[in-house]
Amino acid sequence: MVDSAKPAADNSATALLEAVGIKKSFAYDDTRIEVLRNVNLTIQRGETLAVVGASGIGKSTLLHILGTLEKPDQGKLICMGEDLSTYEEKKLARFRNRTMGFVFQFHHLLSEFTALENTMMPALIAGIEKKRARQAAMAMLERVGVADKHDRRINRLSGGEQQRVALARALIQRPSLLLADEPTGNLDSKNSDHIHQLLLELNQDFGMSLVVVTHNLELASMLDRRVTIVEGQLVAADAK
Ligand SMILES: Nc1ncnc2c1ncn2[C@@H]1O[C@H](COP(=O)(O)OP(=O)(O)OP(=O)(O)O)[C@@H](O)[C@H]1O
Ligand SMILES: [Mg+2]
Repeated sequence: MVDSAKPAADNSATALLEAVGIKKSFAYDDTRIEVLRNVNLTIQRGETLAVVGASGIGKSTLLHILGTLEKPDQGKLICMGEDLSTYEEKKLARFRNRTMGFVFQFHHLLSEFTALENTMMPALIAGIEKKRARQAAMAMLERVGVADKHDRRINRLSGGEQQRVALARALIQRPSLLLADEPTGNLDSKNSDHIHQLLLELNQDFGMSLVVVTHNLELASMLDRRVTIVEGQLVAADAK
């Protein structure tokens, strides 16, 4: 379903990301937990998707696999027509840096570095000149509402501020796809609303696709589609 207030997702060209027959299990004690048994998912350019459902069903696992941070046991990921399973690690890392932004459930910021330094990091890794990276990082910190704290070390910021820095870092490269795991989990409702609006604006302004794991029903209902995981497979979920 596509919200009439925004342009329809672009179905004409190749899909942004296709996951085909994804399987993933984890060994635990003497047993194996089959988290994903047969996941098939197509994300169109500009499309927004919420992944919802109870703790432990495999939402983060799915997101990490879609973002090429974890390898599936079986199955393929095709991004803009490229089969990513054929990429070696260095090529994959470069591709990820250019194409995808991540906001992790546990933000994974570098606590000894400042908010600004953390935000600049993906741009510096991509070889962007320091002055330009700094400007872009400041603009993103401004946009998520923590520019005044740019010089603070991460371990001197609140959980919600850290999460906003994590979002700025994910966005600095203007990714085609933002993968966000509970991006507003640590925020109060006012700041959550602000971030939700920002995500939708970025989707509208840049056609950035979103896959968001969230327990926030309001956010889930604002996105194009909602899915959950049942017995290792993706199924459509209700808006409420
Ligand atoms: N590295 C791992 N080793 C073993 N088991 C794991 C590992 N990572 C995840 N699991 C298990 O896989 C299942 C899915 O985990 P996942 O983190 O994807 O759940 P989730 O839906 O994101 O949960 P939450 O809402 O609590 O974040 C859980 O049963 C978890 O214990
Ligand atoms: Mg999780």
